[in-house]
Amino acid sequence: MPSILITGANRGIGKRLAELYDADGWTVIAASRDPANCNAPGEKIALDVTDDTSVAAAAEALSGRPIDVLWNNAGVYLDKNVPLDRLDLDKWEETFRVNTIGPMRLVRALMDNVARSDRKTLAFTTSKMGSISLLSSGAYAYRSSKTALNMAVAVLTKDVAPQGIKTVLLHPGWVRTDMGGGGADIDTDASAAGMKSVVDAHDMAQSGKFLNFDGREFSW
Ligand SMILES: NC(=O)c1ccc[n+]([C@@H]2O[C@H](COP(=O)([O-])OP(=O)(O)OC[C@H]3O[C@@H](n4cnc5c(N)ncnc54)[C@H](OP(=O)(O)O)[C@@H]3O)[C@@H](O)[C@H]2O)c1
Repeated sequence: MPSILITGANRGIGKRLAELYDADGWTVIAASRDPANCNAPGEKIALDVTDDTSVAAAAEALSGRPIDVLWNNAGVYLDKNVPLDRLDLDKWEETFRVNTIGPMRLVRALMDNVARSDRKTLAFTTSKMGSISLLSSGAYAYRSSKTALNMAVAVLTKDVAPQGIKTVLLHPGWVRTDMGGGGADIDTDASAAGMKSVVDAHDMAQSGKFLNFDGREFSW
């Protein structure tokens, strides 16, 4: 069966993704900062996407194993409802470390695993808040971190195409999680099931697209 590694698999959207892939018979590698307290199904692995040592240890543990889908899902929204004049700039940097640089650090470390697999897919949970054409106000750190992630993945898409590796950027919807809050539009099941359908059907012709959880394409 195919295999998937999901970051931030201990709660929220990542946990539901792990449950759905496990139910579908995939080999799930559930990555989290604290695997002892991770109740997602599958193999548990320790992974802090901001930490070189943690990522290197995970890569060492997974060395030689194909990973069909590497799903960079972990993220933070540290400036929710915080205006620019009250934004702690360290939080802005931390947001970039988790949301932008973290996924690319992991991609770099696990590229060989993905290249060895059948599906060769790099999935990224981004946000429509990173779209410049759908611009609204506030959330400077979060929005800019996701815009930058989108750009990094756009570049990556071109670089990895010769190896047959494809990418996809996914907006999960506004989801009822710790991050999305209780008043959000949809639950984790609708979000994760929708994104899983999109990724299951993803092919090289669609590589690099910025898609909603229901498959609709977003403008950058
Ligand atoms: N919920 C929404 O409405 C919404 C909308 C658009 C996009 N998104 C995106 O969807 C993704 C998942 O969000 P969610 O709603 O499920 O959020 P969540 O419930 O707050 O979960 C966030 C996950 O990210 C993990 N994480 C944070 N920092 C990390 C780090 N340094 N290394 C590894 N893992 C780390 C958390 O682990 P800990 O438990 O250890 O903190 C947790 O598992 C994020 O990328 C988010 O930006 C969400």
